[in-house]
Amino acid sequence: MIPAWVQLANLLAAVLFILALKGLSSPKSARRGNMLGAIGAALATVVVFFTGVAADHILLIIAAIGIGGAIGAGAARRVKMTQMPQMVALYNGVGGGAAALVAWVEYLESNGSGSKLALIATVLTVVIGGVSFSGSIVTFLKLQELITGRPIVLPGGKYITALVAISVVVLAVWLIAAPATWLLITLLLMSLIFGVLFVLPVGGADVPIVISLLNAFTGLSVAASGYVLNNVLLIVAGTLVGASGTLLTQMMAQAMGRPITGTLFGAFNAKATKAAGSVEDRPVRSGSPQDIAIMLGYARKVILVPGYGLAVAQAQSTLRELAELLAARDIEVDYAIHPVAGRMPGHMNVLLAEANVPYDQLKEMEEINPEFSSADVALVVGANDVVNPAARADKTAPIYGMPILNVDNAAQVVFLKRSMRPGFAGIENELLFDPKTTMLFGDAKDSLTKVVAALKAL
Ligand code: TAP
Repeated sequence: MIPAWVQLANLLAAVLFILALKGLSSPKSARRGNMLGAIGAALATVVVFFTGVAADHILLIIAAIGIGGAIGAGAARRVKMTQMPQMVALYNGVGGGAAALVAWVEYLESNGSGSKLALIATVLTVVIGGVSFSGSIVTFLKLQELITGRPIVLPGGKYITALVAISVVVLAVWLIAAPATWLLITLLLMSLIFGVLFVLPVGGADVPIVISLLNAFTGLSVAASGYVLNNVLLIVAGTLVGASGTLLTQMMAQAMGRPITGTLFGAFNAKATKAAGSVEDRPVRSGSPQDIAIMLGYARKVILVPGYGLAVAQAQSTLRELAELLAARDIEVDYAIHPVAGRMPGHMNVLLAEANVPYDQLKEMEEINPEFSSADVALVVGANDVVNPAARADKTAPIYGMPILNVDNAAQVVFLKRSMRPGFAGIENELLFDPKTTMLFGDAKDSLTKVVAALKAL
């Protein structure tokens, strides 16, 4: 029997998780939300020690928490903002893996003699946790560029994946009907293989969506493991992660302008696209920081378009300084925020909030798009895919259908980037070669610092 105070503490932790999610829905309250979630998790962990289940291996459990906590805290302190998606992928993966291992151990303890319902929960945990673990490891490797970020389609990949998926279902049903340890191990192995095959064909721009989907999977496997362990809090927390992960996946897929099935299975049907990463030899117009300062300083209306490169260069404060200088010259300045600029949801909002850019200057895509045609200059800082007109016109492009910021409607376009290399999706951007485009090559922070200095000297 679980003591009443433990149940109350669990209820409190569940409420804290819900408040955490609420807090995380806005950059203003995100820190508080994060803190509430951490307190809820700490409470849930401590309470377990008073339920008696941890009594047998208390030292081992404390050592494991110590080692895991130290690694987690160390990694979280060192990780750069731009590497956050990899970190989420990795943590997500170990969460799914842990749930699968817990279910396995519980199965061994009961020797498969538990109720059918418990067995179904065990099977679900092993399958979803296994897929989530191996899939997340592959997304980590892709984002960390340890393997290519482009879609990897094995010969006959579609059929191999289908075969593995069918074998997972058959093994799962078999295991429920006639429990046996070898079946459980084979099921776990096939689930791990399915996770790898499932993520390999997903390329470039779609990887963050898959992370979010796997995150939802992990939530579900944790919820199922809560059933196996008879732990209500795990069921609540897992369901919250599953539901919010599913919503986030849907929202991201929507922002990319295609259904989630297109993201997952698109590569199987993809036609050849232009060679990625090939740097073309066509002429482009480049300017000096002084040229750009003159262009901006004598404009009436300027729209700033931040992207992933701004985060890499950590140039957000310098961009705000530029915006303030322009505003002081009575120039209308706005920031155009694309929903998937950067590498994670809200990336640009968080980055600019960090630099104290007032929220009312940040304009969402639908609001700012009609404004480009009356803008004298669109200044694109480290963004590429989210302004690439190929998304509108080129049916073979991996970003085809994604709504973009219409910077090509501005009278002049300036790109601050280091080279002619493509963005995350790995495709050419014709706008870089457009006669109304001027390139300022270099690290975004260096370039902006020079433009700011030149503007001050005007
Ligand atoms: P990207 O298309 O990746 O372009 C970023 C550009 O920044 C690159 O072309 C790069 O060019 C430049 N850059 C990198 N480091 C720089 C530095 N230090 N200084 C100056 N420039 C630098 O970024 P985006 O336009 O923000 O698009 C985001 C991509 O992520 C899209 O493909 C989107 O679909 C994908 N994605 C995002 C999300 C979320 S939720 N944000 C989710 C799913 C997918 P150089 O190498 O030449 O400098």
